[in-house]
Order: sequence, then structure tokens, then C-alpha cells
Amino acid sequence: MAIVGAGPGAPDLLTMRAHERIKMAQVLVWADSLVSPHIAALAPGDCERIPTRSLTLEAVMEVMLERVRTGKRVVRLHDGDPCLYGALHEQICRLAEAGVQVEVVPGVSAYQATAAALGQELTIPGVVQTIVLTRAPGRTGTPEREALGRIAALQASLCLYLSARHVHGVQEELLLHYPAETPVAIAFRISWPDERLLMTTLAAMAATTVEHKLVRTTLYLISPALAANPGYRSRLYAPSHTHLFRGG
Ligand SMILES: C[S@@+](CC[C@H](N)C(=O)[O-])C[C@H]1O[C@@H](n2cnc3c(N)ncnc32)[C@H](O)[C@@H]1O
Repeated sequence: MAIVGAGPGAPDLLTMRAHERIKMAQVLVWADSLVSPHIAALAPGDCERIPTRSLTLEAVMEVMLERVRTGKRVVRLHDGDPCLYGALHEQICRLAEAGVQVEVVPGVSAYQATAAALGQELTIPGVVQTIVLTRAPGRTGTPEREALGRIAALQASLCLYLSARHVHGVQEELLLHYPAETPVAIAFRISWPDERLLMTTLAAMAATTVEHKLVRTTLYLISPALAANPGYRSRLYAPSHTHLFRGG
């Protein structure tokens, strides 16, 4: 069976491999709250489609294992990339315990789709060279050593998933380390027909979120890179910089 990343929403942001696995699926177990129905529709007409919005992990596992045991080609479809906030670990462990081999197919994550929609690099030399993907603790919690306050001290390009409900606390924590005028992109359902991409500052991050009533499927991108001088030139492509593929 395959666990497949569906990307951020738009069907044409699927990888070719993901598309191939979906086209061949006999059973599609899909995260219908976050994956577009247009992507689920790429499976064959006679494919059994099982939405998981209202299922527990146990129920999802039962369904998948039952179908795998009857010899069906099962595809578990997650939004974005499966390695991020998709309960991949729990599923892989249970499948391994049951002796089921799994192929994982990567997908475009929401932070990549957001950076692309902005037309922005998140690692601009001399400005910022580190990207952090994280979330507000929320109900799931995060280890103490990964407290937002500590991560913010890096002043990296910070991509915050699953955090819109906690945006006031997030803003407060981040303001202890990033300047108040640090640019923030707020991406709602990026690459979907109703996508919204708002630019604001860290000081106005919570107010903008509340004003636009964003609660679900929202990603924050907080980064000094978003304010960088557009005339900046990377050394990688500078005539004075030689490397393996362009000798001096
Ligand atoms: C359960 S997590 C899964 C993340 C996913 N695996 C990924 O790589 O993008 C869902 C969260 O991802 C973010 N997200 C997913 N798709 C998005 C999109 N199209 N636009 C904005 N944020 C998105 C939001 O923060 C949302 O609450």
C-alpha cells in the first residue's frame, strides 16, 4: 500500500508519482477535510473512496488493514507532505506491526506552496539561512525544549502550521525575539480556488487573523526574508563565485 502526499490543494501540484498511485488505487482512504475532492476524483470510477474526517485512527487502521488483507491496492491520501503533521508515524508503526509494507510518496507542503505563491525565497544569504517548521502547542502540545520563545530566538524563516486558533499567544511569544515590523504572510487554503494570501507585520498578525476570521487551514510564514531587498544578488550565481559546475 502507499501513503501519498496530495500537496496543498490544487490537483496540478500533485507529483507525477502521487498521480500515478491515485490512478491505480482500488481503495482510497483520504483526509477529506484537507484534500481536494478533485484529487480524490482522479481515482478510477470503481475505486472505493473512504473519507476519514470523522474516523478515529483505530477505525482508519481497521479499514486499511482489512482492504490490504483482501489484496486491494490501498492508497492513504494525506494533504501536503505526509511527513508533516499527518499522523504518519502512528500509521506506519501499526502497518509494520501487521507486516504490511508501505511506500511513502512525498507531496508539496503548505509552506512551499505559500513561498511559491509569494514568489519568495526563504533562505536569502546574508539575511536568513534557516527554516523552522513548527506549530503552536495547542491540545497536542510540543516538547518544552521546542517552546516557541526558544525557537523564535533564532529569527529564522518560521513556518507555523495549525496555529491560527492560538495566534494571540503566538504573536506575544514571537514579539519577544523578532522585531514588531517583521513581515508575516498569512496563507489560507493556498492553491485552492478560495485561497487568501495576506501580508502583514508581526505586530498585526493576530488582529489580521481575527479580522479575516481565519481559523482553519491557515499557515503563517514569519520571516526577515520577506522584507529583503529585491535587488540582492546571491554569490552562487555571481561571476566571482566558482564551483564544481562553473570553473574559475
Ligand atoms: C494536519 S496539518 C498537515 C500539513 C501537511 N501535511 C503539509 O505538509 O502541508 C494541516 C495544517 O497544514 C496547513 N495547511 C495545509 N494545507 C494548507 C493550505 N492549502 N494553505 C494553508 N495552510 C495549509 C495549515 O496550517 C493546516 O492547519
